[in-house]
Amino acid sequence: MLCLGIESSCDETGLALVRDGKLIAEKLASQVDVHALFGGVVPEIASREHLRALPVLMRELLREQNLTTDDIDVVSVARGPGLQGCLLMGLSFAKGLVLSTRARLAGVNHLWAHLTAAGLEQELQYPSLGLLVSGGHTHIYLIEGPLEFTLLGRTLDDAAGEAFDKTAKSLNLPYPGGKLVDDLGRQGVVNKKLFPVPYVNNDNLDFSFSGLKTAVATYVNQHSHLRLDVMGQPDDRDEDPAIAQERKNMLASFNYTVGRTLEVKVKRALERNRGVKSLIVAGGVAANSVVRSVMAGVADKFSIPLVLPPMHLCTDNGAMIAYAGYLMAEAGCWHDLDLDAIPRGRVVPCDWICDA
Ligand code: KG4
Ligand code: ZN
Repeated sequence: MLCLGIESSCDETGLALVRDGKLIAEKLASQVDVHALFGGVVPEIASREHLRALPVLMRELLREQNLTTDDIDVVSVARGPGLQGCLLMGLSFAKGLVLSTRARLAGVNHLWAHLTAAGLEQELQYPSLGLLVSGGHTHIYLIEGPLEFTLLGRTLDDAAGEAFDKTAKSLNLPYPGGKLVDDLGRQGVVNKKLFPVPYVNNDNLDFSFSGLKTAVATYVNQHSHLRLDVMGQPDDRDEDPAIAQERKNMLASFNYTVGRTLEVKVKRALERNRGVKSLIVAGGVAANSVVRSVMAGVADKFSIPLVLPPMHLCTDNGAMIAYAGYLMAEAGCWHDLDLDAIPRGRVVPCDWICDA
């Protein structure tokens, strides 16, 4: 079974081919540089970039594999959550392909696709606990099968990735700031008390990062020498080494605080779901070095394996969408042409059609 995956939910256009559950080829066109000029994703520009990139990537992908659209059995597309206009670009492209070939359509949940992406490299076990930490979401799921996800906890305000990006922005570091905050923080010394660990003194599995955002903003306002005059990467050669180190220390403390928050809630979720066979951590923030090492410790404590997608499958990509579509098709499930896009903030419905 040859499955084409189409990702266009935000600012990455991703296409990939998965044959019988194995990734055979992928293409990614990142718009990060375009949006960095504006300090965040501009939805209108993102949609137009997807429209421009999709046919080009598609031609390259098929040509390099000596394939044609007629070889595709399943067209899998991220149908949400995401930016509505961006999702519609992917959906229209997918529907056009389905109409002109004999392929079936699979509309996949972008968040679930992040969590099952590791299945491209290793067999996933069920039930598992899933932590999805991305730019738009911080969700904990109980995953009982490829199409059986129960939401146990979610962020009430900002997502973990947003907290990283806003911390970067407060220091005038370029967008998206997560990777740089991670890299600089790794060179710093943690002060565990610098920022309060947000929203853990309760009994639930939800997150709230807005208090941490305020704490960071207040700290930067009180230590304004840490903010770069011009947006960009700090350059050790023309900065006071003491200031550069102070910024690194602050970011190390920030990384610690996010890691600790995730640790408390994931441990709590595992205590309440003792039967799970693995801990899956996915989404852009799963690339964070502190998050990775904290989650390794948690999995170890509960004597279960930690499943982390390789770095290139952590951030948005077409391969995870192709694989999620493959899982859907394997279960005999698909969508018709009524498939609609689901914007961020709305629950993605389980409205697929299943062969008996
Ligand atoms: O999953 P993703 O690629 O896109 C969404 O679906 O949101 O996640 C993007 C987010 C951004 O907020 C980015 O700053 C963050 O992931 N990110 C990181 C790291 N790499 C990417 N955050 C912390 N540490 C990293 N190494
Ligand atoms: Zn994503």
